[in-house]
Amino acid sequence: MSKRKIGMWLYQNGGGDEIQKKIITKLNERDIAVTPGINLRDAVAKNSHIIWEDKKVDKLDLFFSYNAGEQTQYQVYLSKALNRIIPMINSFESFELSEDKFQTSYLLRQHGIQTADYKLCHRDDTHHLKTIMKKWNKMVYKPTDGWGGVGLTKIENQETLDMLMPFLNQMDLRYFYVEKFIDYDNTDYRVDIVDGQFVGCYGRKASGADWRTNVTSGGSVFMREPNDDVINLALNATKVTGLDIAGVDIIYDRKKEEYVVLEVNGIPAFATPEQEKMGLDFNNKKIDLIVDLIDRKTKK
Ligand SMILES: Nc1ncnc2c1ncn2[C@@H]1O[C@H](COP(=O)(O)OP(=O)(O)O)[C@@H](O)[C@H]1O
Ligand SMILES: [Mg+2]
Repeated sequence: MSKRKIGMWLYQNGGGDEIQKKIITKLNERDIAVTPGINLRDAVAKNSHIIWEDKKVDKLDLFFSYNAGEQTQYQVYLSKALNRIIPMINSFESFELSEDKFQTSYLLRQHGIQTADYKLCHRDDTHHLKTIMKKWNKMVYKPTDGWGGVGLTKIENQETLDMLMPFLNQMDLRYFYVEKFIDYDNTDYRVDIVDGQFVGCYGRKASGADWRTNVTSGGSVFMREPNDDVINLALNATKVTGLDIAGVDIIYDRKKEEYVVLEVNGIPAFATPEQEKMGLDFNNKKIDLIVDLIDRKTKK
């Protein structure tokens, strides 16, 4: 049996470089060779191969792609082709799903998993938005492919909607995606799952001024123990999306008195060195589960 070889592209900021070293050491112990730093942004496709630094990437036994911050359209485009030939973590199919809020909500709801109520309509059908606004009272406009809370707009009344419409119409969108605004306590759960197993959890709290929990919107991370309902919801949501690695964002709807999945992230960050000091100690478990997963998926 020839030696197994995998490629990897993992973010280097926020402690990612140290995580990468640990993963490589553990894979090497299992006799799996690793080429790190394969940014497909710098690769070319030529006839039957995708080539990065003279290496045929499609000859690898697996590609572990884990870098949300440096993602480019070109890199994603090549990943799609690559995953037709070799296994990827996450699979391109589930990664692509997780990048789209509507596609994810639709699939989750089809499988009976609670999400925020949503509506998607064609850009010319704005009358739907007016009817739904009457019913919901408050809603959130979301770009379906956003992150970090960017572009989310809370619409609190009919006037805000009327004011917003000309701006949205200018943006040359194909559709509108809106969610019912959930009455919650401005905190969430981020639950990490790898290979169908619970890895760890933390909470985020929105800063006084904002209703969004994202750290990029001023939110702060805190230690938080999940109960079984939260863990099971995260496990079920992950299963439906098909993600090998997922970070599920969950909030508690005070009106409906139930937990709701807000988002399933396909590239959830490891705990940063600062967060580890705070007591978030799931990194090693996450690394071990990822190493097991790579080992299993490359068994010949
Ligand atoms: N339907 C909603 N009701 C209330 N708050 C929401 C709703 N959707 C999102 N939020 C708040 O906005 C934040 C960002 O939303 P999310 O859908 O996770 O988008 P992003 O990908 O930008 O993080 C969430 O963490 C939550 O605090
Ligand atoms: Mg989010």
